Amino acid sequence: MDAPATKPAKSATGPTEETVLDVKHYTDRLFSFKLTRPASFRFRSGEFVMIGLYKDNGKPLLRAYSIASPSWDEELEFYSIKVPDGPLTSRLQKIVPGDKVLLGRKPTGTLVHDALVPGKRLYCFSTGTGFAPFASVVRDPETYEKFDQVIVTHTCRDVAELEYSKKIVDETLNHEFLGEVAQGKLVHYASVTREEYPTKGRITDLISSGKLFTDLDVPPLNAETDRVMICGSMEMINDTKQLCIEAGLEEGSNATPSHFVIEKAFAG
Ligand code: A2P
Repeated sequence: MDAPATKPAKSATGPTEETVLDVKHYTDRLFSFKLTRPASFRFRSGEFVMIGLYKDNGKPLLRAYSIASPSWDEELEFYSIKVPDGPLTSRLQKIVPGDKVLLGRKPTGTLVHDALVPGKRLYCFSTGTGFAPFASVVRDPETYEKFDQVIVTHTCRDVAELEYSKKIVDETLNHEFLGEVAQGKLVHYASVTREEYPTKGRITDLISSGKLFTDLDVPPLNAETDRVMICGSMEMINDTKQLCIEAGLEEGSNATPSHFVIEKAFAG
């Protein structure tokens, strides 16, 4: 008997092969790259997707990566750490334009507008490569339709590790179309923990001490006006989440939108 006609072909569910268009190295630990975007690939700004490379045995090696480009962009951008012994990033860091990278077909995630109820001010708290989903969110015009103020914080060990977030925010504010909607709303708040810098310390300490709010001239976190997206290491997420809960905010999801949402920054 013939196989049922409805059985999906294997290639319809597996990853697609995309072409590397551009690669930028920021430090010996961080780089970003752009891939072609299939016409059928849809996602919401802030989501993640599986990407990867074929292993020597021909099997795909895939890891979750936040998409750093906004949903309107024709290309897909990613921001990655380089882990010397990381199964994927030890090889991914060597890609050059023209190479192929595998792209999963099902983007998903909670750092999206749909998971938050309306508010006045959006905080995006990030550490390290946790900035990646916010590179997408701050370049989405919907963010400025929904909020009067968008405060994206980025905390890194060294000053050099802030370069990517500074570049993205700077380009957004100076962008031909986005600049108009983002100017006067988008604020980049950077801090460094292991080097001298005008703003020093972990974001959790800057929230607890109130320095963040004094510096920005805004009231402390509150559930009436503030919405929060958090992305960083597991410890950073847990500590920042705790501060949100103490301020009276409740965690949201796609199914039950609320005041704050979390997602682990991916690495490996
Ligand atoms: P610190 O230098 O004090 O560890 P990493 O590169 O290890 O992911 O760290 C990125 C940034 O996140 C660093 O500045 C680090 O500060 C900070 N960080 C690490 N753990 C936490 C935490 N639990 N809460 C807030 N920030 C954190």
